[in-house]
Amino acid sequence: MKRTALVTGGNRGIGREVCRQLLRRGLRVVLASRRLSDGEEVARELCGDGAADVVVVPLDVSDAASIGACTEELTRRDVQVDVLVNNAAICPEGGVLDLDHETAERALRTNLGGPFWLIRAFVPGMVRRGYGRVVNVSSEWGSFGGGLGGPCGYSLTKAALNALTVKLAQEVSGDIKVNAACPGWVRTRMGGAGALRGVEQGAETIVWLATLASDGASGGFFRDKQPISW
Ligand SMILES: NC(=O)c1ccc[n+]([C@@H]2O[C@H](COP(=O)([O-])OP(=O)(O)OC[C@H]3O[C@@H](n4cnc5c(N)ncnc54)[C@H](OP(=O)(O)O)[C@@H]3O)[C@@H](O)[C@H]2O)c1
Repeated sequence: MKRTALVTGGNRGIGREVCRQLLRRGLRVVLASRRLSDGEEVARELCGDGAADVVVVPLDVSDAASIGACTEELTRRDVQVDVLVNNAAICPEGGVLDLDHETAERALRTNLGGPFWLIRAFVPGMVRRGYGRVVNVSSEWGSFGGGLGGPCGYSLTKAALNALTVKLAQEVSGDIKVNAACPGWVRTRMGGAGALRGVEQGAETIVWLATLASDGASGGFFRDKQPISW
């Protein structure tokens, strides 16, 4: 049975590569992009990888109205989401004592609020149908064990995303798998040109978690397909 995966921030960086790899594995992809035109352009580029199986939707994960409109559009188009990849994120500069209010709010809405409300929108359907995969794209900078590095707005929200991963995994059972992934340091607009990994490697563990078998892990945090500490 063909599964459908929704990938936030699917228009560039790691998200774009996750879309490409999922298509290669035969999934249908809902490529969610803040700007519809960016998503449509990427869908055309992915043509050779099966663009017939790409549905592009506009989605600003920081905006509750946009999440509502996206879920309504998918319902109208009769698209059920089996796999949710919460990939979109921002990494604003600033520390606990100097991060401005607007930026702090935006980081919370994007990196935590987006995944939270998208989980609320799509996981109930997964539970009803008895199958689901949720992958929260996190970072070692959100890990206590990894030292909570990086700017405060990023580190705090990724740590909270890790907590959200654990809480959701506690609430679901059966063939619903909920995990967090750290892609490593990847050459993207966020990671910068000096990063050690290409997007292919960065996407690998995310795609593995998105397509886990029924006996796969749930409630874990992984990099390079290996558990890492919270
Ligand atoms: N690169 C690394 O080294 C690294 C390391 C650890 C974790 N990660 C994680 O990996 C994921 C992908 O990062 P990346 O390196 O691919 O970053 P990126 O190149 O900066 O891409 C970020 C993506 O998120 C989207 N986005 C940001 N705010 C959004 C919003 N409000 N609504 C919808 N989309 C939004 C961007 O869309 P626009 O084009 O519209 O801005 C873009 O598609 C993130 O969760 C990041 O925290 C990355």
